[in-house]
Amino acid sequence: MKNFNNKLVYITGGSSGIGLASADEFLKAGASVLLIARNEKKLKDARVVLSREMEPEIGARISICSLDITKYDEVQTVLSDQIKNIGVPDILVNCAGMAHPDYFEKIPYDRYEKTISTNLTGVWNVLFVLVPAMKRDSHIVNVSSIGGFIGVFGYTAYSASKFGIMGLSEALRGELKPRGISVSVLCPPDTDTPGMVEENRTKPEETHAISGNVTLMGAENVAKAMINGIKSKKFIIIPGVMGKFTFIMKRLFPSLVFSIMDNDVRKVIKNREKQEK
Ligand SMILES: NC(=O)c1ccc[n+]([C@@H]2O[C@H](COP(=O)([O-])OP(=O)(O)OC[C@H]3O[C@@H](n4cnc5c(N)ncnc54)[C@H](OP(=O)(O)O)[C@@H]3O)[C@@H](O)[C@H]2O)c1
Repeated sequence: MKNFNNKLVYITGGSSGIGLASADEFLKAGASVLLIARNEKKLKDARVVLSREMEPEIGARISICSLDITKYDEVQTVLSDQIKNIGVPDILVNCAGMAHPDYFEKIPYDRYEKTISTNLTGVWNVLFVLVPAMKRDSHIVNVSSIGGFIGVFGYTAYSASKFGIMGLSEALRGELKPRGISVSVLCPPDTDTPGMVEENRTKPEETHAISGNVTLMGAENVAKAMINGIKSKKFIIIPGVMGKFTFIMKRLFPSLVFSIMDNDVRKVIKNREKQEK
């Protein structure tokens, strides 16, 4: 897909962060968007932000839909209605997600369950309604993460969900190729979003040490990389040089990657022990 004029893009998580930035890029490229998220006020605010930035006619290309993607029956009803009302998506971006990093033993069951049901089952629910309706030459982007190919301290529940997205996307890619539908998986690095602010509240010290002082990527740069990836029909889209480098290192030298991370963890523990003495 080279041209987004008159294309219809459904974006879950479209009211914030990477989803919102993606909506902005698709609108600039001439597409219409449906923003999907739970909180109606945030959706309305997102529509105002997106329309104000552009020509007044843009407003007519933005639809919003309040939906909790973890609720299977609700997803079936609401998305079937959207198909009838505004049409079948040419592009689907499964971006809704959350992270609640913490030490494994401090993650209560309901947090684990919410992480899996939002990041993995929610994507399944949306795909289950939309895939049968999608046509030849359409494109699906499932948002995973660097944490979808490298398990990082503090991200047990999150990585379980995002590794799941990698597997789901890889299998689906093969199934949908004969129908002329492309599947990509987007693996953003740490990105400057409201979600990241939330994430930082519970991140263990060790996780911060592993991330080091990396500069957060702007959500608009992640969105641009995704659009380029769709144009070139890439399966794995990794925005930024560091993310690509990490991917290659993890594939070729997993033990080296583990030992670098283990070393960061050891330093934090040593420091903590020193302070406790
Ligand atoms: N930021 C990063 O550093 C980073 C890095 C790698 C991957 N990612 C992934 O990128 C995606 C977007 O992250 P972000 O940081 O941009 O997040 P964000 O700013 O927190 O936005 C999350 C969006 O998902 C929606 N959402 C959450 N739960 C939902 C549910 N059950 N049903 C429907 N919508 C739901 C939220 O709206 P409501 O709350 O109103 O529902 C919001 O629109 C996520 O999948 C995340 O895992 C992010």
